[in-house]
Amino acid sequence: MKTKIYSTIIFILLFAQKVRKTEGGCSYDRNLRQCFCVLDDFVQISTIISCVQASSIEFNGGTFIDSQVFDHLDINFVLNMITVPLTKISFVNVVLSEEFLAAFINLISQVPVNLLSFENTTFVGQSVEMTMTSPPRILSLQFINTSSNPLIQTDSTFYRFGNWMSILISLTVKKSQLKGVPCDVGSLFKSLSTLELSENLLTDNNISSMFCKDAFPNLQTLNLSSNNFSHYDTICQAVSRYNQLRHLDLSLNDFSEKSYSSCEWQPSLSHLNLSFTGLEQLAIKLPPLCEVLDLSHNKIEFLNISLPKLIELYMSYNRLSTLSFMDQIPLLETLAIDGNPLRLSQVSQIKTFQHLRSFKGDGILYTCSCSLTKEMKELSNSGLEIQGWPDGYTCNSPESFKGKLIDNVNLSLFECHTQLFTTIICIITILLCMSIIFCFVKICQSNKTRSQCMEAGNSNCV
Ligand SMILES: *[C@@H]1O[C@H](CO)[C@@H](O)[C@H](O)[C@H]1NC(C)=O
Ligand SMILES: *[C@@H]1O[C@H](CO)[C@@H](O)[C@H](O)[C@H]1NC(C)=O
Ligand SMILES: *[C@@H]1O[C@H](CO)[C@@H](O)[C@H](O)[C@H]1NC(C)=O
Ligand SMILES: *[C@@H]1O[C@H](CO)[C@@H](O)[C@H](O)[C@H]1NC(C)=O
Ligand SMILES: *[C@@H]1O[C@H](CO)[C@@H](O)[C@H](O)[C@H]1NC(C)=O
Ligand SMILES: *[C@@H]1O[C@H](CO)[C@@H](O)[C@H](O)[C@H]1NC(C)=O
Ligand SMILES: *[C@@H]1O[C@H](CO)[C@@H](O)[C@H](O)[C@H]1NC(C)=O
Ligand SMILES: *[C@@H]1O[C@H](CO)[C@@H](O)[C@H](O)[C@H]1NC(C)=O
Repeated sequence: MKTKIYSTIIFILLFAQKVRKTEGGCSYDRNLRQCFCVLDDFVQISTIISCVQASSIEFNGGTFIDSQVFDHLDINFVLNMITVPLTKISFVNVVLSEEFLAAFINLISQVPVNLLSFENTTFVGQSVEMTMTSPPRILSLQFINTSSNPLIQTDSTFYRFGNWMSILISLTVKKSQLKGVPCDVGSLFKSLSTLELSENLLTDNNISSMFCKDAFPNLQTLNLSSNNFSHYDTICQAVSRYNQLRHLDLSLNDFSEKSYSSCEWQPSLSHLNLSFTGLEQLAIKLPPLCEVLDLSHNKIEFLNISLPKLIELYMSYNRLSTLSFMDQIPLLETLAIDGNPLRLSQVSQIKTFQHLRSFKGDGILYTCSCSLTKEMKELSNSGLEIQGWPDGYTCNSPESFKGKLIDNVNLSLFECHTQLFTTIICIITILLCMSIIFCFVKICQSNKTRSQCMEAGNSNCV
């Protein structure tokens, strides 16, 4: 503790003369343990002294080109004082030279960092040959909306950080116009388990070289959302050999053209997202042990799937018109079927899923019979979570209730038991008729007896 305070004082004294009086610098939020730096020039970095306790540091704005800046700074004082691992170092809205970056990474190579992130960053300058003292202790890397992707370009400085890439756990390159990852680059990422490449320009053409034989041998989570893929089968062929792959996000690609596929998935794949992919029919193989399947916002009319492990199924906004054939998903706990042209007249259709815990069914066509309205209300009060209830759960028929919320429909005793009432009325009518006839016959008979009696001239007849 004493040495820490001592070195802090020395540090401040050392830099008191060097720091130029400018706007900006670093400020520390004690509660969030965040350090926020706005620097025009990296020389101002000395103000980071206030942040030695921070768990995350953000450099926002500025242009950092000159790597020699580190020669004049004794930043090691600060670095030596950082005892806790940093959760995140991020560069946002900056212009960086790769040379500067390489020097920076070298500088912090002894500090454990969970995530190094670049957002809205323009990389400039030429790559330089550089030697690394030891690989940095950074586990995850993120590039979001960056002008280039130095890490995966073979002509970049980063490419020579080969032994570092082999310890990276997670890599994100998002919104960065990425067209592909060369095979030999992919094979450097020996430990990588999470690869996020969403919102880029990846196409079917490049995918097989990207996932070539040695590339990303430990892949577990792969996000290919919002790219330019057009064949489900091609993707399946390219990644189906990954036997540790658990999460695959293929949402927001366009598979409407041809969705037939016989490619088989590994049993490890448990989460598959195929939402917003224009799928019309499921002439494709789904992962056999899938647990979470998102098929929402497609054009699927008919679902005949048998997935014994499926727990969550999202089918919102499709063209489903029936729930039959969905009885081969015995463990289903979450079902979303909102926004389908589906007629539901009996709650028992929902209750077939015995383990159901969460249901979303607004915007489908409810036939508001007595039992349906009553049971839906009961269901909403039971342990089952009905998402969005009561809004959006409206009657489609009978005509008199069209557009009304199920929750607001109060059918009278008579309306609910029309059949029973009809039967009772019929029986009463029949009974009434019978008794009338009976009486009539009786009266006739007594009249007859009387007249016979009269004819006989019996005076005791009346
Ligand atoms: C991407 O980053 C640039 C600066 O590098 C910025 O001007 C642009 O608005 C950002 N775009 C998005 C979509 O974030
Ligand atoms: C990146 O730029 C976009 C557009 O200018 C902005 O909306 C976004 O907030 C920026 N990102 C960060 C982390 O500042
Ligand atoms: C494939 O990726 C490479 C870069 O790795 C790129 O130069 C090429 O244009 C891509 N090809 C297609 C067809 O997109
Ligand atoms: C994949 O990326 C998209 C877009 O960035 C994001 O919305 C989605 O949550 C990601 N999926 C997973 C499984 O992380
Ligand atoms: C990628 O898809 C977007 C929209 O889905 C489209 O505008 C763009 O032209 C496509 N780019 C390529 C290279 O196919
Ligand atoms: C599937 O992807 C879509 C679009 O990226 C996203 O909105 C949705 O939350 C994802 N579904 C699941 C179950 O994560
Ligand atoms: C549903 O699928 C099973 C097996 O895949 C098949 O035997 C059955 O005929 C299908 N049912 C319909 C109605 O298509
Ligand atoms: C329907 O009945 C319930 C209680 O039985 C009552 O709370 C609700 O206000 C009634 N709604 C209408 C529209 O009459």
